[in-house]
Amino acid sequence: MKFAQCLQGAILVSGLMFVGAAMAEGDAAAGEKIYNRAFGRGCGTCHDMASNPNLFESVKKMSRDDFKGVLVNGRNNMPKAMETIMGLPNVKSAGLSEDQAVDALIAFLQKGK
Ligand code: HEC
Repeated sequence: MKFAQCLQGAILVSGLMFVGAAMAEGDAAAGEKIYNRAFGRGCGTCHDMASNPNLFESVKKMSRDDFKGVLVNGRNNMPKAMETIMGLPNVKSAGLSEDQAVDALIAFLQKGK
């Protein structure tokens, strides 16, 4: 009986680890959707223009907290973005938290286009 429970536990733990690994893989894909869909036409609407910061470069220089801070608070002509991000269908259906959505975006941007 004890052994069976132990075995069940081991199976559960390895199952969770598998799901965890799959989610880590999926992060950048979720981030790409956020990048392409936020504000209707995506972050690139503004950030693909040479006059605005290139986020694929920004992400190499900014801390995670600074990056999130700009999304939450906006900055100069950068609109607040957290609300639109959290309203995206893929973010909702995956049940991502704000931090997970930010991490997904960063994972995509670090990977590059
Ligand atoms: C309406 C145009 C617009 C949209 C849409 C937009 N941004 Fe921005 N963003 C800007 C501008 C302009 C700046 C530069 C702000 C400044 O000069 O302080 C900026 C700055 C930033 C910065 C700081 C970059 C740095 O190097 O300091 C981050 C991070 C950022 N935006 C993320 C995003 C993300 C992620 C999205 C999509 C969810 C997004 N932005 C959508 C206009 C936009």
